[in-house]
Amino acid sequence: MYYDPEKNDHGLAFNPFKSCMVPRPIGWISTVSPEGIHNLAPYSQFQNLTFDPPYVMFAANQNTRGRRKDTVNNIEQTGEFVYNMATYNLREAVNWSAAEVPPEVDEFDLAGVTKAASVRVKPCRVAESPVQFECCYHQTLRLPGKGIMGTVDVVIGKVVLVHIKDEFITPDGRIDILRIRPLARLGYHDYTTIDSVFEMLIPGGNEALLNGLEGRAEN
Ligand SMILES: Cc1cc2nc3c(=O)[nH]c(=O)nc-3n(C[C@H](O)[C@H](O)[C@H](O)COP(=O)(O)O)c2cc1C
Repeated sequence: MYYDPEKNDHGLAFNPFKSCMVPRPIGWISTVSPEGIHNLAPYSQFQNLTFDPPYVMFAANQNTRGRRKDTVNNIEQTGEFVYNMATYNLREAVNWSAAEVPPEVDEFDLAGVTKAASVRVKPCRVAESPVQFECCYHQTLRLPGKGIMGTVDVVIGKVVLVHIKDEFITPDGRIDILRIRPLARLGYHDYTTIDSVFEMLIPGGNEALLNGLEGRAEN
């Protein structure tokens, strides 16, 4: 089958688009408003853009009233945010933090997670999360969309400090992903988690390419 997304003439009970782009990592984004209210929300339209220096992005649609999301407002007003890694163990807190609540609500409290002070930025980190990136706002790209929620704000930030809990670093210097069990979004109301890992090397032995992909530390 095929369908035209302008018409959404797929004939299925549910729009299949998001299920065709899986699994998506979840950027659990913390911000603080200019008035000092702490905000936390998951974004699965989330990715790294590059690594040296590292940049990340997430795409926030408009809320159900057609307004910019609190996360975007806070970042554009304060210039800072934190990425927290969402994990299987934290799944209920991640879910709670997605509730559409007024900007006056402290969403760390709503989600029942602990604030850890950041080093370079004002927004707090989720203490229970194994990995957090402190980020400085770079730019918003606004893409027009259909309906109340269709328009999307693509927010780009530069990572200025990376936190990794020591207990999740293996003796050979890798991140222990199987112990962390990152949470990822599928389509519909479905999620997955990483519970298996396998390795493949690009043939040809191009050392620069292989070292780059592996992330081998420079001398
Ligand atoms: C796992 C998960 C992933 C989500 N991903 C996105 C996303 O990529 N973009 C988006 O606009 N909303 C996404 N949402 C919904 C937002 O988290 C939700 O609208 C939240 O209330 C936004 O909060 P804020 O207004 O405090 O920024 C997601 C929700 C969940 C549970």
